[in-house]
Amino acid sequence: MAEIAIVGGGLMGHGIALVLALHGHAVRITDTDAQTRARVPTLMASALATLQEAGAAPEGWDSARLAQAVRVEAELEPAVTGTGLVIEAITENPEAKRGLFAELDRLCTADTILASNTSYLDVFPLIPEARQARALVMHWYTPPYIVDLVDVVPGPGTDPAVVAAMRDLVLGLGQVPIVLKRFVPGYVANRIQSAISAVVYELLDAGIAAPREIDDAIIHGLSLRIPILGHLAKADFTGLDLAQRALANAGHTPQGAPMRSQTLDALCAAGRTGVMAGRGYFDWGGREPEDLFRERDRKLLALKRAMAGIGRMEGT
Ligand SMILES: NC(=O)c1ccc[n+]([C@@H]2O[C@H](COP(=O)([O-])OP(=O)(O)OC[C@H]3O[C@@H](n4cnc5c(N)ncnc54)[C@H](O)[C@@H]3O)[C@@H](O)[C@H]2O)c1
Repeated sequence: MAEIAIVGGGLMGHGIALVLALHGHAVRITDTDAQTRARVPTLMASALATLQEAGAAPEGWDSARLAQAVRVEAELEPAVTGTGLVIEAITENPEAKRGLFAELDRLCTADTILASNTSYLDVFPLIPEARQARALVMHWYTPPYIVDLVDVVPGPGTDPAVVAAMRDLVLGLGQVPIVLKRFVPGYVANRIQSAISAVVYELLDAGIAAPREIDDAIIHGLSLRIPILGHLAKADFTGLDLAQRALANAGHTPQGAPMRSQTLDALCAAGRTGVMAGRGYFDWGGREPEDLFRERDRKLLALKRAMAGIGRMEGT
């Protein structure tokens, strides 16, 4: 695609620029803060070195090539003029973002796509009406050159072709796009993380478990299965009838009140109770449960070995 501009060269902006450059895109980046602009090349070079040490960077890159691929501009106009996509990664402040979108509306051609990296602001009311069809959220995670997930979220007026094009762009970067139906603050991963936070602080403040115990529960129990099964495939293995009973058990839910899920109730009513029934959230392709358990267990053991080899953060 045409050159890509990134506005905001802070924590996120320089990392997104690195990912785009390493995948062959010509990038321009700008920031209102001179010190931040000066830091962009060194931060990218240092992240590139980390990727290279781990064998996770494409061949043939060094800081000189990176400096050619990512042009740092002091002003907004030369940074965005003629670009096909502008990624907004400035401070999470609605008035700053509104002001920037007005400037971009003035400087960019009508076909330029405007993508916001906002974490929790609904930016669509901040974007001029005429730009709505070519505006969307493209939300990355830090550090973007290691964490693959990118949320792609249309606004009320976004052209579906723009959503599809941005999903394809993210796929082409080797990242994992998820396309949501509409904006919700925190998207999926950060909303789940908020739910975890709520329970963690409840347990901590009630003195039920100390930080060490809470993090042991997360590292050795909760998270071990997540990389392979996510949450819903894990529920298929547990059995959805059990998941339904757990939700209905007031003592088991964070709210301390019984919960129901229409989706879960409908699956259980249809006999789709998970791996043992052959189908649940996922269709297990007619495979025997023993076969599925063996695959899961082999993968869990490989992950456990890798985690033991890596170890946890020193001091925790
Ligand atoms: N930090 C994270 O983990 C994370 C993850 C995903 C999304 N985000 C979102 O990405 C955006 C940027 O976050 P960050 O963590 O990189 O913040 P940051 O503070 O590190 O960087 C923001 C940069 O924007 C610059 N800036 C402010 N107004 C500007 C303008 N009008 N034009 C050009 N530059 C301007 C600032 O000088 C600053 O360097 C926010 O919307 C944030 O919510 C952050």
